[in-house]
Amino acid sequence: MSLIELKKISRSYTMGERSFYAVHDIDLQLNEGEFVVILGPSGAGKSTLLNILGGMDSPTEGDFLFDGENIAKYKDNELTDYRAWNVGVVFQFYNLIPTLTAYENVALMKDVRAHSSKKSVWNKGEIEVMRPEEAIEKVGLKERMHHFPSQLSGGEQQRISIARAIAKNPRLLLCDEPTGALDTNTGNEILKLLQDLSRKEGRTVVMVTHNDSFAEIADRVIRVKNARIESDEKAKPLQV
Ligand SMILES: Nc1ncnc2c1ncn2[C@@H]1O[C@H](COP(=O)(O)OP(=O)(O)OP(=O)(O)O)[C@@H](O)[C@H]1O
Ligand SMILES: [Mg+2]
Repeated sequence: MSLIELKKISRSYTMGERSFYAVHDIDLQLNEGEFVVILGPSGAGKSTLLNILGGMDSPTEGDFLFDGENIAKYKDNELTDYRAWNVGVVFQFYNLIPTLTAYENVALMKDVRAHSSKKSVWNKGEIEVMRPEEAIEKVGLKERMHHFPSQLSGGEQQRISIARAIAKNPRLLLCDEPTGALDTNTGNEILKLLQDLSRKEGRTVVMVTHNDSFAEIADRVIRVKNARIESDEKAKPLQV
């Protein structure tokens, strides 16, 4: 069974008298452990699709099965629970809390899980959160973990935001332009880290970008254009 199955998913918006689709009629299956890159021009619907996958937005039409559970019609509190158990997100501008150290930023995310119900449908008993230092070690920043974000470079801040995203051991790691604010070399190090998290740890990673050259590092490349999937290809990936 696929980890994720989207069936004729659409997300429409109404502005005044007009409505339009940000994503339209998308069918997609994602398997556990895949490293997927979603490519497409600005406004194509990439972030909308990623937000739906992450339970930060809901489709207006269609079904979304995660591990067999249909979450398309979930209410806000059910989506909160879905995110707490299943989803880690990495953003372009890191979104770390400036008054907390790297360690504290990562520790905070564990609390999100701790505060969600133990009776959650997603609590299958086998998912363990990591200790913050363990997550920070995985991204290679153990010696900097008591620094504040302002004392870290952009690449280091992004590593900490990745540590924060994986600390609760999510089944799905979503990244929206994770290298968008970084120079080429630092960006490549972040890509390599994401690739390793998928290759070596079997995590399902979905990364959105409009940088075509990232296509070659993924297992699978999905191109989005005008709210629809234009192509979906298994890639022969290069090691970064
Ligand atoms: N909350 C919203 N309200 C109205 N329109 C929206 C909203 N969110 C997205 N859209 C519209 O939906 C379309 C797709 O937006 P989306 O952010 O998914 O594009 P994108 O592919 O991520 O673009 P970019 O590469 O610039 O980030 C755009 O036309 C956008 O303006
Ligand atoms: Mg976007």
